[in-house]
Amino acid sequence: MIPTPAPFPASRPRRLRRTLWIRDLVAETRLTPEDLIWPVFIREGEGEREPIPSLPGVVRHSIDSALEAINEAANFGIPCVSLFPYTEPSDKNAEATEAWNPDNLVCRATRAIKHHIPDIGVMVDVALDPYSSDGHDGIVRDGVIANDESLMALERMSLVLAESGADILGPSDMMDGRIGVIRRALERNDFQDVTIMSYAAKYASSFYGPFRDAVGASGALKGDKKTYQLDPANGDEAMREVAADLAEGADMIMVKPGMPYLDICTRVKTSFGVPTFAYQVSGEYAMIQAAANNGWIDGDRAALESLIAFKRAGCDGILTYFAPKIAEMIAREPL
Ligand code: PBG
Repeated sequence: MIPTPAPFPASRPRRLRRTLWIRDLVAETRLTPEDLIWPVFIREGEGEREPIPSLPGVVRHSIDSALEAINEAANFGIPCVSLFPYTEPSDKNAEATEAWNPDNLVCRATRAIKHHIPDIGVMVDVALDPYSSDGHDGIVRDGVIANDESLMALERMSLVLAESGADILGPSDMMDGRIGVIRRALERNDFQDVTIMSYAAKYASSFYGPFRDAVGASGALKGDKKTYQLDPANGDEAMREVAADLAEGADMIMVKPGMPYLDICTRVKTSFGVPTFAYQVSGEYAMIQAAANNGWIDGDRAALESLIAFKRAGCDGILTYFAPKIAEMIAREPL
């Protein structure tokens, strides 16, 4: 409860906004590079930095190039990256078997990063969509996403990721019961220190389009993801998902997308008091970049403003494609 301020002129709120130093002094939240997780797209090859047209400024890195970029990001204070592989169509099938190939691209990238840059955290998404010829996060049977069969695939996928050194698993598939299955598998296989950041409140959103281009899932996807991702109309349902995932063994919770769901971020943080993250997704990034590239907004300021909003809403951190750029800006000119 915020008490009513004294009436004007005893209270002149502008006194606290008069100069930069006083604004800094009374700022309620801060954004630092340590708040940011950087999503990185990985591809095969060497020396590759392949632009993604719908994500201006973002590239698909071959592993060697990713190591350079991630090393730079670590030097700017970014604590963690999240890896997403672009899978060649020839490596996809209906069972998404490449997802649990211990030598798949994302496992090799994880091993390389943990070897060369051991101090940065590596998070990997757990979902079948980069590997599925149907473009879905689970296995499709007769046009339906088969929940329990998908759980078995996600379990196998989680174990190869843990084996290759992933610090955080980010189940983004929204199958029922997946956190419990993954947590039990990790315990049974001596991976008790692997952290789970559950994409618990993940909405069926139109803001994922550029990401699906980036991982090569756009062409493959048949239909939409509304039978497993949340309806944007619902907030209480998201709270039930969060409660279930925490009970099943999640350590941290993610809300996704970010900016259209700030109310959900606040509800998760205030109701559960657990580490809460927002994913500023590809479509959100693309909107800001597109407007900036047209000269319609100041892209850097808009990006900063969008990120501080997550902190204000209660998030402990943000996954954002702006991470390296913002970390560099903050390093140059502390906020
Ligand atoms: C895959 C996944 C998606 C994103 C992260 N993991 C897309 C989807 O669910 O279709 C979206 C991230 C973004 O848009 O930046 N399960």
